[in-house]
Amino acid sequence: MLHSVSFSGNYPLEKHGILSFAAKNFMSDFHALQVSAVKKLTPNSVAITFTVPESLRNTFSFKAGQYITIKHQMNGQEIRRAYSISCAPSSGILTVGVKKMPNGMFSVYANEILKEGDTLEVMPPEGRFIFEPAGNPKNIIAFAAGSGITPIMSIAQTVLEGHPENVFVLVFGNQSPSETMYLDSIRRMKKQYTDRFFIQHVYSRTREEGALFGHIERSTVNFVIKNQFKNIVFDAHYLCGPEPMINTVSEILMEHGVSKEKILFELFTSSDSEDVLAEELEGKTQVEVVVDDETFSLTMDKKQLVLDAVLKEGIDAPYSCQGGVCSSCIARIKEGKAEMVKNQILTDGEVAEGLILTCQAHPLTPTLKLDYDDV
Ligand code: FES
Repeated sequence: MLHSVSFSGNYPLEKHGILSFAAKNFMSDFHALQVSAVKKLTPNSVAITFTVPESLRNTFSFKAGQYITIKHQMNGQEIRRAYSISCAPSSGILTVGVKKMPNGMFSVYANEILKEGDTLEVMPPEGRFIFEPAGNPKNIIAFAAGSGITPIMSIAQTVLEGHPENVFVLVFGNQSPSETMYLDSIRRMKKQYTDRFFIQHVYSRTREEGALFGHIERSTVNFVIKNQFKNIVFDAHYLCGPEPMINTVSEILMEHGVSKEKILFELFTSSDSEDVLAEELEGKTQVEVVVDDETFSLTMDKKQLVLDAVLKEGIDAPYSCQGGVCSSCIARIKEGKAEMVKNQILTDGEVAEGLILTCQAHPLTPTLKLDYDDV
C-alpha cells in the first residue's frame, strides 16, 4: 500500500479485462480532506487519518479492503499514490497506512513532514479486494506481508465484528516485530476475539517465540493449512503483498484443492521505487498522443514512463494510481512499441491488440503513437 503503495488487483489470479474498470475514469474526482491525525506505527510507517465532513460521508463510504488515491504536488510535479484503508467501515473514520519507501516521494513526505491539520486531495474509495459481511458465518484466512496488512486490517475487523461465529486467521510476514505495522492493534484484537482471531507471525530477521522464521513460503502455507488449522474450512483466502508471495501462496492453495474463486489478491508494490527496465533503455522517442480528440506531440527519454512524460507536457491524460493496478491510464498503441514494467490488469489478448498501461510503459521505438480515446 500500495503502500508501499498499494494497488488493487483483486480477482482470483487472473488479469483483469479493461471493461470491468471502465467506470473508474468517471470517478476521478478529488476532494480536499483535512488530516486529523498522523500516528507513527513503526519507525518507517505512519497511519494517516482524515476528517470526512458530513457533506462527503456518502462519497467516502467504503467497503472493507478498498483503497483511496491521494494527489499531491511535490517539487512542481503532481503525484498520485493509492493507499489501502486500514480501518473498518463501521469505525466512522478514514485511515490509511503509509510505509516509507527508499527514495520515495509521497511516502517520505507522509512519514517525515505531513502533520495534523494539513490538507490532502483524496479520491473516493475504490477497489474490488473487498469483504462484504453478509450471510452465514465465515471462516477467512489472510496472508499479508509488510504493508500488505493495511486492507487486511479493515477486512479482519469487519469479519470479526460481523458475526460472533466468524473466524479469522492471519499469517503475517515482516522483518521483525519492531517493523510490524499495526502490531498493537493486532494484539488488542487478539485479546478481544481470543477464540476467533488467530495469528501466525513470520519474521525474516529475528527469531521470536511462537513465530516462524523466514518468509511466507510453501512450508508456511502447508503448516498453517494442513497442520495448525486443518479442521477449518475457509470460505475465502485474501493475499496481500508482493507478487512472488501472492504467486507462491495461491499456487499452494490451489494444489490443496482451493478453488481460484475463493482466492482474492491485492498486489502491493511501490511506485516510489525504481523500475527495472529503465537501465536498459537508451535514447529518445518521438511520441504522438491523442486525448479527448486532440493530438499532442512530445519528445521523451526512453527511460521515462510514458504517462510521466505526457503529464509533464501538461497533457490531460487519464490516470489515477500510477502504480499499474487501477487501469485508468490505458491507451492503445497505434504505431511503435512500448513495454510495461508491470501489468496485473491487461490480459495477454489485450496487450496483443495494442493496449498498454501508460503509467507502466517505456517506449522501445524511435516513434510511438498512442490513443487514450480508443480503449
Ligand atoms: S494510473 Fe493506475 S494503472 Fe496506470
